[in-house]
Amino acid sequence: MAGHATSDGYTELGIGLISVGWMGKLHSRAYQAIPMVYPELKVRPRLVHAADSAPDRADYAQEVLGYAKGSTDYRAVLEDPAVDVVSICAPNLLHREIGIAAARAGKPFWIEKPVGRDAVDTGAVAEAARAAGVVTSIGYNYRHAPAVERIREVIANGDLGRITNVRAVFFNGYASEPNGALSWRFKKDLAGTGALGDLLSHVVDLVQYVVGPITDVNALLSTVHQQRPILPMGSGTHFAVIENGELGDVENDDYVGALVRFAADGPGAGAVGTLEASRVIVGPQCGLGFEIYGTEGSAIWNFEQMNELRLCLGRGGPAHADHGYTTILGNASLGDYGQFQPGPGHSMSYDDLKVIEARKFLVAVGGGEQRNSTIAEALADAEVIAATAASAGDGAWHKVAPVPGATFGHA
Ligand SMILES: NC(=O)c1ccc[n+]([C@@H]2O[C@H](COP(=O)([O-])OP(=O)(O)OC[C@H]3O[C@@H](n4cnc5c(N)ncnc54)[C@H](O)[C@@H]3O)[C@@H](O)[C@H]2O)c1
Repeated sequence: MAGHATSDGYTELGIGLISVGWMGKLHSRAYQAIPMVYPELKVRPRLVHAADSAPDRADYAQEVLGYAKGSTDYRAVLEDPAVDVVSICAPNLLHREIGIAAARAGKPFWIEKPVGRDAVDTGAVAEAARAAGVVTSIGYNYRHAPAVERIREVIANGDLGRITNVRAVFFNGYASEPNGALSWRFKKDLAGTGALGDLLSHVVDLVQYVVGPITDVNALLSTVHQQRPILPMGSGTHFAVIENGELGDVENDDYVGALVRFAADGPGAGAVGTLEASRVIVGPQCGLGFEIYGTEGSAIWNFEQMNELRLCLGRGGPAHADHGYTTILGNASLGDYGQFQPGPGHSMSYDDLKVIEARKFLVAVGGGEQRNSTIAEALADAEVIAATAASAGDGAWHKVAPVPGATFGHA
């Protein structure tokens, strides 16, 4: 494993952070939680160097998050010999440049989704990581929810029978306010697509992880709010609302709807489905969820009730009075729940998913089981997003380019 052994039997790992926004803070909290939540790993992350182009954020990383050094140039983090692994939490535009630089510096990296603005960017990072042989992990955090891990097992065991159809959505209202700031997310050259890359990419990761690879897509896009008030980079959050500000154009999609087919082999062999995402929806706030139907049962989950799994097992038949859904609350036999809480029914949180993600990354860095989302899986996701964008452009069905090595842990 990278890092160095301590006299008390731990491995100390020097953590580098690039970009100290929402995700940068979250990655930092996740590393700090590792020795307490997973003491058996015997890994002690040390926050050694953080960079952000906004000087106040580099200062914040030192003063509040506890990094030993702060810089305004990310290269200083990659050149720092005390940095063993890196978190890349920059806006999508920079993922390609920074991901390639991290690979060339030989640093294993945990990078935020969707890894670049499009499949070309993701492919370039994947190629650099493959050439350098560095471990990668992607910020597809929702797959770590204990209920999601359980649904994945139930499908793999065949308990739902043959999977027939899937409905999955990410309805997130972060841009539902028309005066919500025009952050980098709304600009094509900075973010790439809109709800498609930002939100549908999470849906695609979830269903590919739980059900299997998507092979064909037909889709449409729409932009609901065409202009928004301008927000300088590195100020505010993407939830900021600006009254009477100068307006700029929204350059990408607010909504995407897609019909998909799943691969003919694997857990979801031959299934079909609908995927949708919106960033301007009114009502749902972080409504990432799915319904998965099979010939012998079905499963339902939504992040807004992250700790609840709804399962219907067996067909029951018309005369069965008690047939229907059972609601199962989080408990120690689901995923990593038991690492956080000893008793059932205690809610886990979004932060906890990032702690699980940090665990999967660090285990993979140490040569252990590979249950993290890899750069190959991010590329498989980006290829679905590319096929979706292409279909929205010409209205035709598009094939998804297969990605060797994207196993979603099924192989
Ligand atoms: N996994 C998830 O659920 C999830 C949620 C939100 C965001 N994300 C992803 O995380 C990434 C970051 O999003 P965020 O919400 O944290 O953004 P943010 O706007 O909160 O932070 C981005 C930071 O990058 C900094 N930055 C800009 N240019 C830089 C440069 N050249 N060098 C170093 N830093 C620079 C900015 O100053 C800012 O501090 C995006 O790829 C986004 O898609 C993932």
